[in-house]
Amino acid sequence: MADERTPLLAVVQTRPHRDRYSHHTLRNVCTIGLSLLLLIGGIAAIVVLTLVPLDDDDTSSPLSTYLPWSAKSVPPSWPKTQGLDFEGLQAILLTTPDAEKAREWSQYYTSGPHLAGKNLSQAIWTKEKWQEFGIENSLIVNYDIYVNYPLGHRLALLGKTKDSDNIAAPDTEESEWEVKYEASLEEDVLEEDHTSGLKDRIPTFHGYSASGNVTAPYVYVNYGTYRDFEELLLANVSLSGKIALIKYGGVFRGLKVKRAQELGMVGAVIYTDPGDDGDVTEKNGHATYPAGPARNPSSVQRGSTQFLSFAPGDPTTPGYPSKPGAPRQPVDHAIPSIPSIPISYQDALPLLKALNGHGPKASEFNKYWKGGGLGYKGVEYNIGPSPDDLVLNLVNEQEYVTTPMWNVIGVINGTIPDEVVVLGNHRDAWIAGGAGDPNSGSAAFNELIRSFGIALEAGWKPFRTVVFASWDGEEYGLLGSTEWVEEYIPWLQATTVAYLNVDVGANGPNFRLSAAPLLEKVVVDTIGLVPSPNQTIPKQTVKDTWNGHISTMGSGSDFTAFQDFAGIPSIDMGFGFDSKSAVYHYHSNYDSFDWMEKFGDPGFQYHATIAEIWGLVAAKLIETPVLQLSAADYAAGLRRYVNQAKQKAEYAGNDRRTCNAIFEPLENAVYRFTKVSNLQDSLAAELSKQLEDDDIPWWKWWEKVRLWMAVRKVNTKYKLLERQFLYAEGLDGRPWFKHIVFAPGKWTGYAGATFPGIVEAIDDNDKNATYRWIGIATEIVEKAAEFLEDE
Ligand SMILES: *[C@@H]1O[C@H](CO)[C@@H](O)[C@H](O)[C@H]1NC(C)=O
Ligand SMILES: *[C@@H]1O[C@H](CO)[C@@H](O)[C@H](O)[C@H]1NC(C)=O
Ligand SMILES: *[C@@H]1O[C@H](CO)[C@@H](O)[C@H](O)[C@H]1NC(C)=O
Ligand SMILES: *[C@@H]1O[C@H](CO)[C@@H](O)[C@H](O)[C@H]1NC(C)=O
Ligand SMILES: *[C@@H]1O[C@H](CO)[C@@H](O)[C@H](O)[C@H]1NC(C)=O
Ligand SMILES: *[C@@H]1O[C@H](CO)[C@@H](O)[C@H](O)[C@H]1NC(C)=O
Repeated sequence: MADERTPLLAVVQTRPHRDRYSHHTLRNVCTIGLSLLLLIGGIAAIVVLTLVPLDDDDTSSPLSTYLPWSAKSVPPSWPKTQGLDFEGLQAILLTTPDAEKAREWSQYYTSGPHLAGKNLSQAIWTKEKWQEFGIENSLIVNYDIYVNYPLGHRLALLGKTKDSDNIAAPDTEESEWEVKYEASLEEDVLEEDHTSGLKDRIPTFHGYSASGNVTAPYVYVNYGTYRDFEELLLANVSLSGKIALIKYGGVFRGLKVKRAQELGMVGAVIYTDPGDDGDVTEKNGHATYPAGPARNPSSVQRGSTQFLSFAPGDPTTPGYPSKPGAPRQPVDHAIPSIPSIPISYQDALPLLKALNGHGPKASEFNKYWKGGGLGYKGVEYNIGPSPDDLVLNLVNEQEYVTTPMWNVIGVINGTIPDEVVVLGNHRDAWIAGGAGDPNSGSAAFNELIRSFGIALEAGWKPFRTVVFASWDGEEYGLLGSTEWVEEYIPWLQATTVAYLNVDVGANGPNFRLSAAPLLEKVVVDTIGLVPSPNQTIPKQTVKDTWNGHISTMGSGSDFTAFQDFAGIPSIDMGFGFDSKSAVYHYHSNYDSFDWMEKFGDPGFQYHATIAEIWGLVAAKLIETPVLQLSAADYAAGLRRYVNQAKQKAEYAGNDRRTCNAIFEPLENAVYRFTKVSNLQDSLAAELSKQLEDDDIPWWKWWEKVRLWMAVRKVNTKYKLLERQFLYAEGLDGRPWFKHIVFAPGKWTGYAGATFPGIVEAIDDNDKNATYRWIGIATEIVEKAAEFLEDE
C-alpha cells in the first residue's frame, strides 16, 4: 500500500516558513538540521568559526550578515564537485541512457491500462526501480481525488421516418424516429497493435464530463473556440438547446465545452478531423495506420474537459491538497455540466454529411473557418443547425468517485539543503498504451535516474538537492502534481530553483521547448552539447537540428502548479512531430508501443537523447556553484510581452499616443528591471570567473569567505526572482493563477498568455481593468527590480 505520510517531506514541511521573500527565514531554513560539511582552506575555516557569533541575528555582527550558510556550518569546497567532478558527472549522464533499456521501460508501462488512480502496481514498480537504481529515498505520496470513470455512452443520428411524413398525423410518437446512424464509439482492434485489443482496454470518454442523455438538433461549430462561437452568434445561428459538433484542435477541449455550455447548448460531440494532420493523410495518398503513417479512421482522442485555465488540480480542493478528510468545494465552476463525448472521424462522417445543405457553409465565414479534411469523403462543412427532423441522441454515463492517486517521489539530498531542483513526468495515460504521452517521458526518466544512480555509485554527492517526481492523474487535470505543490508550497517556495518537466519525451524527431525566460539559456547551451540521433550531417547536435523556437509557459502539463501557482521557473521539453511526420494518435489506443516502434521512434534513440538533455540541464542547475539562470533573458521577455500588450491595445482601437501614456509606467519599471538584471548577471559571471580562477591564496581566508558570501547572495536572488512576480489575489475570475506574467490563455488553455491580467482586460474592452492591471504589473516589476537591487 502507498504510504499515508512521507517521512522526508514531512520533515521538510515542518520547517518554519513565515515570509517567502525573507532572507531571515531562509537562513532559519538552512540552519535547521545542518551538519558539518567539508572543511575550507584548512585553518581559515576554523578562524571563521571562532570569529563569527553562533546566532542567526541579522544585525548582531556585520560578518554574520554575509555568512553564506549558518555559522554552525562550513561551506563546501567550491568549485570542486565532491567525489566525482563535474566533467565526470556530465560524461555519465551523456553516455548512460540506453535506447534498448528505454525500449524495455516503454514496453512495461504501455502493456496494460494505467488510467489515473487505477494502477497502483505501476507506482510500486516505479518506486522499486528507482530504489534499485540507487535512489533509496523513494516513496509513494498519495492524495484522495475526485474523478470520473466511464460506465456507458451512446451517440445516434435519428431521423423522422418517411411514413410519418406521409400520413398527416401529428409528430408526437417516439416510434416515428428511426436510427439513421449508430456511432460505434470504439476504436478498431488491430492485429498489428497488441494493446488495441486488450480485454480491459479503456473506453472512449472525456475526463470530468457530465452524465446526461440529451436529444436535440446539432450545429457544426468549427473548433469551438471563443472566437468561433462569436462568429456563429454574429451570423444568428441558433445555438441554444442544440448539441455542438466540434472539431478537435486550437484550444483545450474543456474550454470548447465550457463556451458551448455558456451559450445554452445541451451537449458536445468532439471529433478529430484529418484536415489537421498535416501532409500525411489518406487524401494525400498515404496508407492509414497500421499499414501506413496516416491516421487510422477509427482513432478517438480521449481527454479531459476540466476548465483547465480556471484552475487545475482536484476540482473539489482548489488551492489546498486533497488529503483524506480535506474539506471539499462544489465543482460547478471547474467542470462542465453538459455531457460530452469524443468520436473518430469515421463516426463523425455521417453526422457531418447529414448537415450538407443546411445553414451557411464554413467557407462563408472568416479565415479561421476553412472547413476540414473530409471534403474528399463528401462533406461540405455546412454549419446547420440540423433540421428539426434530424437530431442526435447523446448519452454519457459517468461514475464519480473520490479515490487515491499515487505520485512517486525520489530524493537525493544535496549538500545545501535549501537549494532544490525538481524533475517530473507523469505516468498515467488515457489508454493501455501512452507510448508517446507520457511514457516516452517515463522511459527516459528511468534512464536519467539510472544515470544519476551510477554517478552516486561513482562517489557523486550533489551540491543541491534533487527531487524526482512520477505524477499520477495528470491527464484529468494535472492532479498529482498540483496537489503535491499545494501541499509542499512553503518548502518549495523557500528552496526550489527550477522545475524540469518532460511529458511526451519523444513522438517524432523535432526538439521542442517551452521555458521560463530564466531557464532559456541553460537549456539552449545544453542541447549544443548533446549529439542528435540524426547524424545526416556528422557531429550534428540537437541544437543544430532545432528550429530555435521557445514557447512561453502555458498549461497542459505538470509544470503549471510550479510556474503559475508557486512561482518556480519551469521548462517543458521533448521531441515532437511536424506536418511531415507519421500522424501521432494522441490519447488514442494507437499511441501504443507498436506504433512507437514502427513510426514514432523506431530505435528509441530519441528516448535516450531526451534523457541525456534532461540529465545535463539538471546537472548544470544542481552542480554549478553560481546558479545558471539568466535575469537578462527575463528582462528581454518582459520587454517583448509589454510590446505585445501595447500592440494589442492599439489594435483594440486606442490611438498610439494614449497607449504610450498608459504603458509608460510599466515600460519604465521594465527598463529599471533590465538594468538591474544586467548587473545581477554580470556579478554572477564575475563570481563564476573568480571561483574558476581559484587564485586566492589560502592565507587570505577572509577573501574566500567574502567570495562565498557573494555567491550565496547572488544565488538566493536568482532562486527567489520568479517568486517576485506572484500576485497574492491572483488573476481576475481565476484566483488560483498567481503569476502576473505567465498563465494559460483564459480561452486557449494550452497556449501561454503573457501579462494575462492586462491582455484579458484589453480583450474584454474593460478600461478600468486595463488600468488596474497595468498598475499591478508596474508595482510588481518595480518590486522585482528592488529585490535584485537590494543590498
Ligand atoms: C498496471 O500496469 C501493468 C503494466 O503495464 C499491467 O500489467 C497491469 O495489468 C495494470 N494493472 C491494472 C489494474 O490495470
Ligand atoms: C435517454 O432518454 C430517452 C428519452 O427520454 C430514453 O428513451 C432512453 O432510454 C434514454 N437512454 C438511456 C441510455 O438512458
Ligand atoms: C442577425 O439578426 C439581427 C437582429 O435580428 C439582424 O439585425 C442581423 O442583420 C442578422 N445578421 C445576419 C448575418 O443575418
Ligand atoms: C535528507 O534530508 C532530510 C532533511 O534534511 C532528512 O530529513 C533526511 O533524513 C535526509 N535523507 C537522507 C536519506 O539522508
Ligand atoms: C536530419 O537532419 C538534416 C540536416 O539538418 C535535415 O535536413 C533532416 O530533415 C533531418 N531528418 C530528420 C528525420 O529530422
Ligand atoms: C471605472 O472606474 C470609475 C472610477 O473609479 C468608476 O466610476 C466606474 O464605475 C468604473 N467603471 C466600471 C465599468 O467598472
